[in-house]
Amino acid sequence: MRYVGLDIGTNYTKATANGTDVIIFPSLVVYGEEKEWSLKGEEERKVYVGEEAAYMAQSMENVEILRPLHEGRLMHRSYMELARHGISSLNVEGERLIATGLPVKSSKKERAEIVNELKQVLNSDILLLPQPVGSMAYMKTSTGVCIDIGFGTTDVVVLADMEYLKGDTLLVGVDKIYENLEMIIRNEFGITITPEEMVRLLSEEGYEVGRVRGGKKISVKMEDISQSYNEMMKSWVERVVNRVNLLLEGLSISLVENIILTGGGAKLPGVQDEFKEHFRDIGDIKVPDDPVTANAKGFYSLARIYGKHEEGLEEKEKEEKVTEKRGRRKK
Ligand SMILES: Nc1ncnc2c1ncn2[C@@H]1O[C@H](COP(=O)(O)OP(=O)(O)OP(=O)(O)O)[C@@H](O)[C@H]1O
Ligand SMILES: [Mg+2]
Repeated sequence: MRYVGLDIGTNYTKATANGTDVIIFPSLVVYGEEKEWSLKGEEERKVYVGEEAAYMAQSMENVEILRPLHEGRLMHRSYMELARHGISSLNVEGERLIATGLPVKSSKKERAEIVNELKQVLNSDILLLPQPVGSMAYMKTSTGVCIDIGFGTTDVVVLADMEYLKGDTLLVGVDKIYENLEMIIRNEFGITITPEEMVRLLSEEGYEVGRVRGGKKISVKMEDISQSYNEMMKSWVERVVNRVNLLLEGLSISLVENIILTGGGAKLPGVQDEFKEHFRDIGDIKVPDDPVTANAKGFYSLARIYGKHEEGLEEKEKEEKVTEKRGRRKK
């Protein structure tokens, strides 16, 4: 049996077949144009996924770029393309158990449909979990809180001994920081930046976004925006913290001693410190070494544990049958 951890996010899809090396590609799908004529009966349109889709989107006009996940909701067909692309990039043949996640507040019906479809499309066994559970497993924490700040949503779970107690999906992610910052820069400097440029602007020292505007060079550096960023980031964290506090209200303190902060949002400057400050009284904030890939790595280890457990059960069943037969023969 081969095990895979697959984390399909709003902005990036992450997948690993060994729990260490993670492939990452943009969660983008582009369907190529239908041919005017089809001589070989090839009705299927060509599909571009990930980096290829990003490239197609830039270089072709009139293509529709699909983001299969939006605000925690998903479009089945293109979501399956991301899953297929992730698994085929990993080169894992044979019997497979794939652990993957969905936003906490996805519906039961939707989850059942996704599991069925993934089973068929990927020809594998599927273990479906709430997204932040991956990071909990990666951090080897079975009781506590996990706050997963992704691009489109922030997912929160409270687990007790690896059992789901409660959780929530907030429609606040890195996207809100990006939108605000983009507006600030547009107002102040008159240029528009992309989400990727924003991440580099905030995380790479000396990085500069430059544009030509009206025959002049306009450039933006971190120090130009750091004050506005800090103010905005603080109120954004507060918004998330308020919602998390609602979820934690009334819980036993032993359940919330360990608080894990994960997802790309945990990498933004100042965010970890803000969370530490807000939860100072309640518990410790821990952050995985790489918050972006922690869910996928954790899903991998959960797939292994679950798979081995099932194998163990099967072995036991076989043994029991054998002893049963022997017992009957003796009679
Ligand atoms: N150093 C960094 N490296 C990568 N991404 C970063 C970094 N700092 C901040 N980010 C932001 O975090 C976002 C990615 O977060 P993540 O991969 O957890 O989101 P996602 O899983 O795609 O979204 P969701 O969980 O909401 O579906 C990026 O889109 C980027 O804006
Ligand atoms: Mg995510």
